[in-house]
Amino acid sequence: MHYVGYAPLAAAVSNAGGIGLITALTQKSAEDLRAEIVKCKKLTSKPFGVNLTLLPALTPPDYPAFAKVVEEEMEGGQLRLIETAGHVKGLAPFVEQFKSAGAYVIHKCVAVRHAKTAQRLGVDAISMDGFDCAGHPGEYDIGNWVLFAIAARQLDIPFVASGGCADGKQLAAALALGAEGMNMGTRWMATAEAPIHQKVKQALVDGDENSTALVMRTMRNTERVYRNKAAEAVLELEKEHPGDFSKIAHLVKGDNYRKVFQETGDLEDGVWSAGTVMGLIDDIPTCQELTDRIISEAEEIIQGRLQDMVTA
Ligand SMILES: Cc1cc2nc3c(=O)[nH]c(=O)nc-3n(C[C@H](O)[C@H](O)[C@H](O)COP(=O)(O)O)c2cc1C
Repeated sequence: MHYVGYAPLAAAVSNAGGIGLITALTQKSAEDLRAEIVKCKKLTSKPFGVNLTLLPALTPPDYPAFAKVVEEEMEGGQLRLIETAGHVKGLAPFVEQFKSAGAYVIHKCVAVRHAKTAQRLGVDAISMDGFDCAGHPGEYDIGNWVLFAIAARQLDIPFVASGGCADGKQLAAALALGAEGMNMGTRWMATAEAPIHQKVKQALVDGDENSTALVMRTMRNTERVYRNKAAEAVLELEKEHPGDFSKIAHLVKGDNYRKVFQETGDLEDGVWSAGTVMGLIDDIPTCQELTDRIISEAEEIIQGRLQDMVTA
């Protein structure tokens, strides 16, 4: 998660029993990423991962340098999980590089078609990110309920359910649908350890499932974001100038995330991402409290309600 996935949160998630991810591209340079990875190793002895998001950009980041640092920092085995995301087009060389270094590569995508391409390229697993998700839900608008069921039918490799996940009932449902677990984004932002402004965390608690907007649809680069004045302005500008990125660039630039999350906490300071899962977020627990709650709720459902149904 851009400007959220730093070492302290990744380590807190891993210490709580999940696998936390550092967002590579939030770091200004490959060497900054190395420093963040080294920091994470000091904060946890548990496995953690790195997300490398492959997006088209006017000035693309130095992907080979980032990938090389990730590969080098895999030594010792604590960092083995690499989550790739974004365009499946440029994915092949990175899968090859990470796999030959011994990584477990999980590719996050929003369409089963892309998941199958990633599977063919040799990734180990898929993070199936449905329409409910924060970030980029793609252009197909297939809800998680159908998406996960199709993934279970059509993929030969494991997948985790992603997008809109926050509680143990959903974990039990995801497991029932054939997923091996779930990936959470927005829910981790509303935790004590998330390195973002308290006002943003509170906004996620106060928001609900209707508090998001889909911007950049006219550019076929849809992003689900927190519905604020900036998002409304983008929607208006897109109506007037469909497909013209230059008209909205100032409102959607990545640096807005940094400003809102780290500097001002002013929710209106540009467009930033959050998911419909806000409807399921009522508090700001520690990562440990959240993980324990999710697992015990899932166990309760599986061993109680569901077990009772089959034995009745
Ligand atoms: C603030 C924010 C920033 C994100 N940045 C990225 C990113 O840089 N790369 C990426 O692959 N996914 C990114 N995502 C998507 C998440 O990794 C995850 O797939 C998504 O949040 C799951 O949906 P959920 O928020 O409903 O749990 C971001 C999500 C949020 C909320």
